[in-house]
Amino acid sequence: MSLNDEVNKRKTFAIISHPDAGKTTLTERLLLFGNLIRSAGTVKAKKSGKFATSDWMEIEKQRGISVTSSVMNFPYGGYQVNILDTPGHEDFSEDTYRTLTAVDSVVMIIDATKGIEAQTKKLFKVCRMRGIPIFTFINKLDREGREPFDLLEEIEEVLDIETYPMNWPVGMGKRFLGVFDRHKEQFVQYNGNEEEVYIPYEDLDKPEHQELVSDSTFKATEDELELLDEAGDNFSLETVLSGKQTPVFFGSALAPFGVETFFDTFISMAPAPKPRKSTEGVIQPDNPNFSGFVFKIQANMNPAHRDRIAFLRVCSGKFERGMNVNLARTNKPIKLAQSQQFVASSRGTIEEAYAGDIIGIYDPNAYRIGDTLIEGKEHFEYDELPQFPPELFKKVTAKNVMKAKQFKKGLEQLVQEGAIQLFKRHRTESYILGAVGELQYDVFKYRMQNEYNVEVELESIGERIPRWLKVHQVDESLFDERNILVRDREENHIVLFRNEFALRWFEDKHPKMELIDLFEVN
Ligand code: G4P
Repeated sequence: MSLNDEVNKRKTFAIISHPDAGKTTLTERLLLFGNLIRSAGTVKAKKSGKFATSDWMEIEKQRGISVTSSVMNFPYGGYQVNILDTPGHEDFSEDTYRTLTAVDSVVMIIDATKGIEAQTKKLFKVCRMRGIPIFTFINKLDREGREPFDLLEEIEEVLDIETYPMNWPVGMGKRFLGVFDRHKEQFVQYNGNEEEVYIPYEDLDKPEHQELVSDSTFKATEDELELLDEAGDNFSLETVLSGKQTPVFFGSALAPFGVETFFDTFISMAPAPKPRKSTEGVIQPDNPNFSGFVFKIQANMNPAHRDRIAFLRVCSGKFERGMNVNLARTNKPIKLAQSQQFVASSRGTIEEAYAGDIIGIYDPNAYRIGDTLIEGKEHFEYDELPQFPPELFKKVTAKNVMKAKQFKKGLEQLVQEGAIQLFKRHRTESYILGAVGELQYDVFKYRMQNEYNVEVELESIGERIPRWLKVHQVDESLFDERNILVRDREENHIVLFRNEFALRWFEDKHPKMELIDLFEVN
């Protein structure tokens, strides 16, 4: 098979959702399709901490959650599927955002009874900024949920995207009869079991379907469908691939209902790996030389080995185990001897991988987040990974002042690794950490103790709104405990505002000062 064919077979995506929307249940279905697990309940068992062979880091076991964004891969219908799991909720961290830099599309799961929730909105913003195509699965149709039109309107409004329902539900909850598959022009009947019955539109007139079509819910939905055909947006794959329209599928991950159709359609439409921007222009995925970038570093996945694994997205060419590459940042050669591919429950060694694949490589403390690795004589670096604005801030000190040296070393390394962000307060020069989620602090504390033997004290200064202050000379007297002035590692001035009100008040008072939303910069 040619390199180009191998690359075009790759479908690399992340599943994003609010906790409890059904991500685990849906992922499990997909793993069943891929024959990675044999029965439903396997992944769930892992999530609830009953998974015996788990060799994930200690903190993961303690909390019974997945700290690492795991990667699952399997062949399906002629494609090579790579699923990147993204933690949500309290396990939310910068890693969750960074994972989105390594995928070509995302599946967004929405609970039909709830609609869009805060965390989904945040992740979505990153997808929109990066133009990642989004496919939506509205889950739990077997329960009484919100009106389908209502849900679509919410997606359009909150997320600023066009929607195109690929199917349309007839009833919900106890009255859920099935869906009109607009794409394949058939009615898919739900009988409360795993069997789906497919009735082509033209067969609906047949006497055996009389009972179904005379149902009042069915009739009412036919009218809705007509309305949708006339007044709704037209489907455009091009618009979908540019991230401006999302195909929407209604179904139930648990029943399961509509999952296979969703997955087949999604896989056929989802984009293959795209060219990527670098310092030397755009690099094509079928460029024969291997290249890739590190989007995540995970320490201590296996407590017995204390190893660090760098997660690498292959962007061009073919990876082969043991190959020699150049680390672009240092321009030094490095041998990729140990490599791992991640599956739901176990890690296996891989021999080769292609553009689009995600591999784990052993990290001898050499890599940083965003590092580019290249085979051959070319020299370039992929676009820097965006820094995501932290929201939770804490003052950090070493409990034992005698440990100042280890404290500094640990702090520097973990910050460099991208585990957490570091700021220095003006004048006092005290350290302030910034994170996207609470979990980052748990991991930080744990690793400082276990890897650097330093107990740290974290003192919360709460949720803050960071703004970049674009001035050369700062008038320090304008800042205090409410609006804290700090510097980041590049010596940029940043103000941590206590809340929206404090920010507005400051803006009104000092209209000449340019305050930039870190999010908008990237
Ligand atoms: P998450 O990974 O997004 O957090 O969600 P997860 O799959 O764990 O699902 C959250 C809850 O929603 C689970 O119930 C799950 O069974 C249920 N669920 C998922 N999909 C559907 C669906 O299509 N219909 C219905 N009715 N429920 C669904 P739980 O009570 O928290 O867990 P469990 O003990 O029942 O497994």
